[in-house]
Amino acid sequence: MKFSEEIKRRRTFGIISHPDAGKTTLTEKLLLFGGAIQEAGAVKSNKIKKGATSDFMEIERQRGISVATSVLAFEYEGTKINILDTPGHKDFAEDTFRTLTAVDSVIVVIDVAKGVEEQTEKLVEVCRMRNIPMIVFINKLDREGKDAFELLDEIEQKLNLTVTPLSFPIGMGYDFKGIYNIWEQNVNLFTGDPRRDIEETVEISDLESNELDKLIGEKAAGTLRDELELVHGVYPDFDKEAYLAGNLQPVFFGSALNNFGVRELLDCFITIAPPPRPKDSDIRKVEPSEDNFTGFVFKIHANMDPKHRDRLAFIKIVSGKFERNTPYLHVRHNKKLKFSSPNAFFAERKEIVDVSYPGDIVGLHDTGNFKIGDTLTEGEELRYKGIPSFSPEHFRYINNADPMKSKQLEKGIDQLMDEGVAQLFTLELNGRKVIGTVGALQFEVIQYRLEHEYGAKCTYENLNVHKACWVEPNDPKSEEFKDFKRVKQKFLAIDKQGQLVFLADSAFSLQMAQQKYPNIKFHFTSEF
Ligand code: G4P
Repeated sequence: MKFSEEIKRRRTFGIISHPDAGKTTLTEKLLLFGGAIQEAGAVKSNKIKKGATSDFMEIERQRGISVATSVLAFEYEGTKINILDTPGHKDFAEDTFRTLTAVDSVIVVIDVAKGVEEQTEKLVEVCRMRNIPMIVFINKLDREGKDAFELLDEIEQKLNLTVTPLSFPIGMGYDFKGIYNIWEQNVNLFTGDPRRDIEETVEISDLESNELDKLIGEKAAGTLRDELELVHGVYPDFDKEAYLAGNLQPVFFGSALNNFGVRELLDCFITIAPPPRPKDSDIRKVEPSEDNFTGFVFKIHANMDPKHRDRLAFIKIVSGKFERNTPYLHVRHNKKLKFSSPNAFFAERKEIVDVSYPGDIVGLHDTGNFKIGDTLTEGEELRYKGIPSFSPEHFRYINNADPMKSKQLEKGIDQLMDEGVAQLFTLELNGRKVIGTVGALQFEVIQYRLEHEYGAKCTYENLNVHKACWVEPNDPKSEEFKDFKRVKQKFLAIDKQGQLVFLADSAFSLQMAQQKYPNIKFHFTSEF
């Protein structure tokens, strides 16, 4: 197949949702369509119950063995589909944000009864800021839930989206009869049997025809006609360009558990979702069709086997072909590296590949060369942008609990930070180390991993920080900045990139600093 054809047939996307909306179930049904798995239950849920570290460790352990769950690739109707796993648990939101830098589109799953939930709001906001094309799937139609129009309203208002339904439910919960597919103009009747033949859809090109009344009954047919008229009156027609630009979001209804409405979603998805998109670097925009390979690290996964302390760096290929045993430039280290066993990921296995194309993800064995955001090229000195660190919400001093193992502790902290587990800040005043995390769970994870993977022991000490802000003075030589550094000395730290960070101890002191030092900018992400 030609290079350009390979690019055109790829779809790399993520499924985002609030925990429990049905992301795992939907993923599994998509894989069933692709023939990538044979039965339900094959995809492990990555759900973490509230605060249960043991749960997390168990999941990490399983993932370590089968890292394949980070990327699930399969073929469907000639399309190569790459699903990137996005943890739904809020303590791992940053992991999800980073993964979103590697997707070309997303599917948002919403629970019909719960509507738009907190985590959905945050994740969709990130996608909206990046103009990532989104399709919405409203799930669990077999249960009683909110009225379809009410939900569409809620999505528009809370998520700030412009929606256009491409399917519409006929009844709901106990009365759920099926779905009218606006996109394909047919009716799919619900039988509640997940194994039934998917060809059972009935073409209804003319909504006025009697056939519809026969199929779902006169009353339901009347309601459906009225509702569809309203849909046409209220919502804009589907427009592919608007969808691709992130300005219009098509909506599908269904029940993932019952495998209902999923085929419709998938068929529309492969038709409209974008192939790999161009990406901005620090010097220029890079097109997937360029001859030279470029890619970036968006995730690092530790292998949980203590005997082999290697890690897998996940690279999204942006342009060109990635080939095995070919030297590529690690731009940050200015060093050429060759990879003899790059992995590709399929639903239940990983496999060494010779060639991969834009949109694909390859996993490279790493002994500590990579950190998140690193760029690989064929020689060009460009760096991809867009993997920010977010201001953490929890802070603690980290102390060495075993003086004999201080080297191990240093190395462990260093590598865990490169993986993006948390952020390290070193206080300017006394060199003490502070760990900042998005969720409280990470502290236990770090402690556990330092001990089990690096043989080091740590303890934590509370530290009162309200927020970490990256500091950018308009003029680093100004008296104002010198004064700020002197007055706030106790609260200043350096992050791993050497950037200056202000650890404000309260909202008030942050506000005061902003007022007192108008020529200094305080940023809440590391990328500005
Ligand atoms: P998540 O990955 O987004 O966290 O959600 P997941 O797929 O694990 O689904 C959460 C729960 O919702 C699961 O039930 C799942 O079976 C159920 N579910 C998913 N889709 C549908 C649907 O279309 N209809 C109905 N009625 N339920 C659905 P659980 O009891 O938490 O887990 P399990 O023991 O059934 O696996």
